Amino acid sequence: MSVQAASVRQGVIRRHRAWLPEIPEGAIAALGEGETPLIEATRLSERIGARLYLKFEGMNPTASFKDRGMTMAISRAVAEGSRACICASTGNTAASASAYSARAGMSCFVVVPAGKIALGKAVQFLAHGAKVVQIMGNFDAALKLSQRAAKELGTVTLVNSVNPDRIEGQKTAAFEVCESLGRPPDALALPVGNAGNITAYWKGFKEWREAGYADTAPRMLGFQAEGASPLVAGRDFESPETVASAIRIGAPASRDGALVAMRESGGLIESVTDEEILKAQDLLAREEGIFCEPASAAGVAGLLKLAREGRAPEGVVASVLTGHGLKDPDIVLSRTVLPDPIEATFEALVGVMQQTEPDAR
Ligand code: F0G
Repeated sequence: MSVQAASVRQGVIRRHRAWLPEIPEGAIAALGEGETPLIEATRLSERIGARLYLKFEGMNPTASFKDRGMTMAISRAVAEGSRACICASTGNTAASASAYSARAGMSCFVVVPAGKIALGKAVQFLAHGAKVVQIMGNFDAALKLSQRAAKELGTVTLVNSVNPDRIEGQKTAAFEVCESLGRPPDALALPVGNAGNITAYWKGFKEWREAGYADTAPRMLGFQAEGASPLVAGRDFESPETVASAIRIGAPASRDGALVAMRESGGLIESVTDEEILKAQDLLAREEGIFCEPASAAGVAGLLKLAREGRAPEGVVASVLTGHGLKDPDIVLSRTVLPDPIEATFEALVGVMQQTEPDAR
């Protein structure tokens, strides 16, 4: 007897099959990725002066947008008989690759910059049994090494976003934004690191328009962290630095894709400071109830900056929150303190409540 579960999420390969390169059904490694919420942000909308919606990609199976592309890359590797994959990562790609590899019964090597991986992401790839290689170097060095290993060994599949299947999977987020709004937004703001995601969104929006579902495509507004902003400076950064460890990248592999997206859409790529990123993360958590990791707040930080300078986009704006806040607990813990414990009595409780909220009687 076969059992059918109600309302199963199909995952992006099955849901968007007509838009993606073909993957044989038997090779699909899926975890119900995609179909993430698009949440209206009323308080931030007021601050920005546009109608802002947040595409919360932290709601994917491994809590970042990487799962959309990873289901494609790993499924393709399965289809081609590959037994192992490799990726360089600032954390999220590694978490996603290790989960989908586990699902597919494949070995997974993750090459990461030592000491620069947020705790939640490290916990993920350790739990999924990835073979972890920490290097004394940054993401850019890790990517070069991983590319070379994949090329010269010939037995491992590279699953970074230079793998075109990753871009194909990730472009499905653009379709979902259009479906949810009933039309493309007027602008889309997102963080830019290795620049795969902005490349993927722009591909998705263009395909949506070419298919005749819309006459327009959004202006693409990409934001890098100031200390890691090679696309803004027009030169690679040898030692990129930012609190947003996910986008601590000095030589983006998909640089050309990002620049094309900016040019063709009439958009921009600018930078925001670490302070602006953390402020935006804080506002999202405290005023909208949405907890994203620091890098993910760069899009909103950028919109707030444009608003302050009188350059905010008009109309309907979407911002992509690329990863969940639980990925990086240290950031919040380092900026706040837990209060000392109190006696377990009603009087002590009320005392504390009235101290912090005098109206709580
Ligand atoms: N936001 C988060 C949370 C990320 O993890 C990344 C990239 C980005 C934004 C930038 O996306 O690279 O496509 O421009 N993380 C990669 C990783 C580099 O290894 O997890 P991008």
